[in-house]
Amino acid sequence: MALPPLPFALAAALLLTIISGHLAAPATADGYVGGLAIYWGRHADADEGTLRQACDTGRYTTVIITFYNVFGYHPGNYNLDISGHDVTAVGADIIHCQKSRNVTILLAIGGYGGGYSLPTSQSAADVADNLWNAFLAGRRAGVSRPFGHDAAVDGVDFFIDQGGADHYDELARRLHGYGAGVILTATTRCSYPDHRLEKALATKVFDRIHVRMYGAGEIERRCVISSRYSWEKWAAAYPGSKVYIGLVASPEQDEAWVFQKDLYYEYLQFVTKLPNYGGLAVYDRYYDKKANYTGEG
Ligand SMILES: *[C@@H]1O[C@H](CO)[C@@H](O)[C@H](O)[C@H]1NC(C)=O
Ligand SMILES: *[C@@H]1O[C@H](CO)[C@@H](O)[C@H](O)[C@H]1NC(C)=O
Repeated sequence: MALPPLPFALAAALLLTIISGHLAAPATADGYVGGLAIYWGRHADADEGTLRQACDTGRYTTVIITFYNVFGYHPGNYNLDISGHDVTAVGADIIHCQKSRNVTILLAIGGYGGGYSLPTSQSAADVADNLWNAFLAGRRAGVSRPFGHDAAVDGVDFFIDQGGADHYDELARRLHGYGAGVILTATTRCSYPDHRLEKALATKVFDRIHVRMYGAGEIERRCVISSRYSWEKWAAAYPGSKVYIGLVASPEQDEAWVFQKDLYYEYLQFVTKLPNYGGLAVYDRYYDKKANYTGEG
C-alpha cells in the first residue's frame, strides 16, 4: 500500500497507531503533529497519578486540570473538584510542570455536572475576579488560593457542557482583559456550532479550541462519524485559533474510539497541513495511562 509523502517517522508512527490501537509517541515527541493536551483530575491519585507524574512522562505539552465546577449561582460559592487529589500538593506540581517540563497548565471550568452557569453580567464579573485572584496571577489578599500563593495556572479552558450559554463572552473578555498572557481555550462539542460557546468564541480572544470528536447522543454521534468533515468546519470557522482534535483514550470510554484507529487515514494526514491545526487533546489522563494510548513507556 502506498503511503502519502510524509516524513518517515510520522508515517511509521501512525501506521503503528493503526496496527496497535495506540497513538504512538514519535508523532508528538518530535512536535510534528503539534501539541498534545491531556485532561487531568477526574480520578484518584492511585489511579491516574499526580499532576507531576503526568508532566514527567514528557508526553504532554499541556495539562488541563478538571474541573472548577461550581460557580455563578451564588456569589462567593465556588468549587474545585479534582476527585480527591491532594489539593495542597498541586501547587508545587504546577510549578514543576511549568519550569522543569515546559508544560502549559490550564484550569478547565464547567464540566459534565450542572453546578454552574452565568445568570447575570455581574456573575460573569465575579467569576472572572475569582479565577484571576484564586488561580491566575491576581493574588488579591483575602481570596483563598487552593494551589497556594506561588503557583498560578497559565490560563482557563472553557469546558461549558451544561447550562445556559449567556455571559460566557463577558467572562472571556474579562479574563483576556487581565492581560499578562492569560491563555484562553475552549473545549467544545463535535457539532459546529456549539451553542453554549458560540458567543464566547465570537469574541476571538481564544488561543485554542479543543473539539471533542466523541460524545453521546444522536447529533454528536453523527458528527463523530463524519469526523474529518466536522472538524474542518471548526478549523475554517476560527482561523485565528489553533484547533485541536479531541479524542478519548480507550474504547471503554466511548464507542467513538473505534474511529480513532482510522485517525490517520480519515484525517490526520490532511488536517496537519492546515495552518491552524493545533494538535490532539486526549480525555483523560487515567484512560491514557491505562490504555497507553499516547504511548507512554
Ligand atoms: C516550550 O513549549 C512551547 C509550547 O509548547 C514551545 O513553543 C517551546 O519551544 C518550548 N520551549 C522549550 C525550551 O522546549
Ligand atoms: C506504551 O507504548 C509505547 C509506544 O508504543 C511502548 O514503547 C511502551 O512499551 C508501552 N508501555 C506499556 C506499559 O505497555
